[in-house]
Amino acid sequence: MTDSSRPPLRTVVLVSGNGSNLQAIVDQAHAGGLGINVVGVISDRPEAYALDRARAAGIPALTVDYKAEGGGESFGRSLGRELDALMPDLVALAGFMRILPAYLVDRYRGRMLNVHPSLLPKYPGLDTYRRVLRTGDEWHGSTVHFVIPALDSGPAIIQYRLRVRPDDTAELLRGRVQQGEYVIYPMAIRLVAHRRVEYRDGQVWRDGTPMTTPLVVDEDDMHEADAKLLGTR
Ligand code: GRF
Repeated sequence: MTDSSRPPLRTVVLVSGNGSNLQAIVDQAHAGGLGINVVGVISDRPEAYALDRARAAGIPALTVDYKAEGGGESFGRSLGRELDALMPDLVALAGFMRILPAYLVDRYRGRMLNVHPSLLPKYPGLDTYRRVLRTGDEWHGSTVHFVIPALDSGPAIIQYRLRVRPDDTAELLRGRVQQGEYVIYPMAIRLVAHRRVEYRDGQVWRDGTPMTTPLVVDEDDMHEADAKLLGTR
């Protein structure tokens, strides 16, 4: 799925912490085929390890410090300024733990993605692993979706799905889910960058048709996911 006639999308990744999703995106972008250039990484915390990862990859990394900004409106304005200055075609939230002001989300609507560790619409918000275990759900996973102002509610592009095991702890589940995120997030980005997937009228469209349910990658066939979901048109 290459399209050399299009310039790669200028992509900015917003982070708050470890940055393992950032790493997966950067690695796959460098390997080629994603159709993006990561032109900047912005963190709301100066100590985020994700910043080190970005610098090690030669990507400009900067902090808009939520605390130093006193949070709220001032943070939103500064972040918006830094983001706009990078002129992104695509913004990927990857473990970014702040809620963005609605005007900023609207400015990038259809061009802003997030990964959330649950099978949305189940479990928006924090602490999804513990909540899933407490409820005794059979399935858990992660969702890549377009961002809209309402938290964790934008239309879903792709989900990673796994069966919860009897001996799963929140930490074990997190590890399993994140392995899947490293597959589905780059995949969603690739679909968007190659215009196979787009946001239109509040919905996700794939190859010109509105999607009624997200694409699904199961833990058991994670390694065939590319061929299965991207190879055919
Ligand atoms: C990811 O697992 C994602 O689901 C959630 O935050 C986590 C961030 O991890 N939104 P990392 O910073 O990418 O390692």
